[in-house]
Amino acid sequence: MAGHVPVLLEEVIQGMSPSPGEHLLDLTLGRAGHSVEILRRTAPGGRLVGVDRDPVALEESATRLPAERVLLIQGDFGHLPRLREQVGHDTWDLVLADLGVSSPQIDDGERGFSFRFDGPLDMRMDPTEGETAAEYLARIEETELARIIHEYGEDRHSRRIAAAIIRERKIQPIETTLVLARLIEANTPKSSDHHLHPATRTFQALRIEINRELSALQHLLDRTGSLLSPGGRIAILSYHSLEDRKVKQSFKDLVREGDHELVTVKPVRPGEEEISRNPRSRSARLRILRRKLGVEK
Ligand SMILES: C[S@@+](CC[C@H](N)C(=O)[O-])C[C@H]1O[C@@H](n2cnc3c(N)ncnc32)[C@H](O)[C@@H]1O
Repeated sequence: MAGHVPVLLEEVIQGMSPSPGEHLLDLTLGRAGHSVEILRRTAPGGRLVGVDRDPVALEESATRLPAERVLLIQGDFGHLPRLREQVGHDTWDLVLADLGVSSPQIDDGERGFSFRFDGPLDMRMDPTEGETAAEYLARIEETELARIIHEYGEDRHSRRIAAAIIRERKIQPIETTLVLARLIEANTPKSSDHHLHPATRTFQALRIEINRELSALQHLLDRTGSLLSPGGRIAILSYHSLEDRKVKQSFKDLVREGDHELVTVKPVRPGEEEISRNPRSRSARLRILRRKLGVEK
């Protein structure tokens, strides 16, 4: 299976400037691309708590990480109090959240994230919990579906696509990635944007909805002020303007309250070289915030 190329790796390292002995909480471990590099810089004493909703990500990453310095936990950063209880440790020098899905998740046809492969319409990052995209499409009401495709997918054909899905499910259940992709293709006008398949935006919207990605992010942002040790840094990589807007606003509020400062005044974006090497980095935006020294919880 293909690996995952960590996005904006140098910029994350430079902006977070990890040093020996610092402790890292990686809330979206994935294939540990960022964590491996950070751990190298926090050696010998710095520890990692690595969290992911996806049990496969944890299994694969375990083989890449020094076991004696690492604790891996399957969980959702949308439930931070539960994670904190499991870890028994409350604040960190370094916190990382690299949002969304990983390449290995997208590239595994059985997970149902991509219409490049025919597979079950699942899309759950944690395949042991919650509703699949197929189950969601079987029950959702048309106006709500159109709203999701419009807001999370930013697709201007949202109403037309929602109507087509509701019509189709009366004839047969929509249970595979290719059935959904072909249905959308057949019901949208030929696009002037040749780079994007007409189903791309709907797939993105469904993934965000199924995994409640925006509410998990909001939960994290609401607790960011209490996660960092004095001098600690949090880096958030987002891939959608709705996410970035939330991060920007929360960081701004924390700075205004006086205990934090921005490390990145503007969001850091990948350069052309990175985008051509790793097209999935295209929409990435990195923001980093630092808790001021001498500020206790
Ligand atoms: C973009 S990948 C991270 C890649 C990682 N930084 C690397 O370099 O390998 C995002 C990961 O976060 C996980 N994830 C997304 N939302 C999550 C959540 N709310 N709680 C825990 N893990 C989450 C996904 O399962 C996925 O493995």
